Amino acid sequence: MPKVIEVDPAHVTEAQLAEAATALRAGGLVAFPTETVYGLGANALDPAAVARIFAAKGRPADNPVIVHAPDAETAWRVTTGPTPLAERLAQAFWPGPLTLVLPAADALPRAATAGLSSVAVRVPDHPVALALLRAAAVPVAAPSANRSGRPSPTTAAHVLDDLGDAVDVVVDGGPCRVGVESTVVDVRGEHPFVLREGGVSREQLAALGGVGGPGVDGHVGSATRPEDLAASPGTRHRHYAPACRVILAGVGEGPQVAAGLAASGGSGRRVGLVGPGGVPAGVVGVARTAGAEDLAARLYQALRDAEAAGVTDLVVEAVPETGIGRAVMDRLRRAAEGSGGQAR
Ligand code: TXA
Ligand code: MG
Repeated sequence: MPKVIEVDPAHVTEAQLAEAATALRAGGLVAFPTETVYGLGANALDPAAVARIFAAKGRPADNPVIVHAPDAETAWRVTTGPTPLAERLAQAFWPGPLTLVLPAADALPRAATAGLSSVAVRVPDHPVALALLRAAAVPVAAPSANRSGRPSPTTAAHVLDDLGDAVDVVVDGGPCRVGVESTVVDVRGEHPFVLREGGVSREQLAALGGVGGPGVDGHVGSATRPEDLAASPGTRHRHYAPACRVILAGVGEGPQVAAGLAASGGSGRRVGLVGPGGVPAGVVGVARTAGAEDLAARLYQALRDAEAAGVTDLVVEAVPETGIGRAVMDRLRRAAEGSGGQAR
């Protein structure tokens, strides 16, 4: 089993992470907490180490990973340098759940970028991640630390369940605060181009001069054009598929949809519910959530809890698609599609 290092985020020191940092520099795989989800880290400058990430996750070879750094200056070093837009967004949102796509530096091995000429970079807002990145003193390539196609991990236990012996070190810093992944934004042009919804909302981006450019109609809430999806390979792949069917119910309709499914179900069916309402008779209450932020923070845990409880059909009540609600609904639709359940 991997070495597990428990650290208290409120009192973390670089010395506590010396062993994890050494493992990273030696080509090992180190899972660590960020404010969004746990990452599976490797030295981005070491192609063999990065290859181990893809093997451990069962990740498609054409899906690039995010390179993490402790500050913007260090992040820019794996790029050809920030655009004015990148600088503005970094200033406003780093450290934080925002990933910026820029042209990759020539010196950066193309393992982390899956052969692309661009690289995704991010400075996470988590004291443990920042201390580890400083101690390692190398840029750290890190996708979410789940098996490919599984819900992202928001605790060290999720990482151990999914990856076990494939990881060398797991740094356990407790549960992640945001709970959904970072927003991925292409900043090579004049306007931010949202490739993946996440912890920084379109409203927050728009407050800094508008979300526009290709793929966005110039106003908050518009969707990315399908032809642009190829720009972010990860959005093409099947994602977030738990072992149970996920059924998305409308706002306020969770209990009713769950009750209906339970009533019509055969003997093998076990219906679960995630949402703010009460739990009808014959339905398993998986998580009682209070709003989009709370659902974001608890969604991936809830998907895993539903599996563990033997739920076959998990009803999740929708949240309004504003703020982080847009990222939550994006993940829920993927979970519904990936599990053969029902999106809306
Ligand atoms: O919050 C997060 O972003 C977490 C934590 C660990 O930082 N990481 C994460 O990584 O979610 P991953 O690999 O699960 O998702 C990375 C996303 C994928 O959709 C990938 O296709 C996209 O970022 N991506 C990476 N490099 C890219 C690039 N050069 N151009 C476009 N998209 C890129
Ligand atoms: Mg992922």
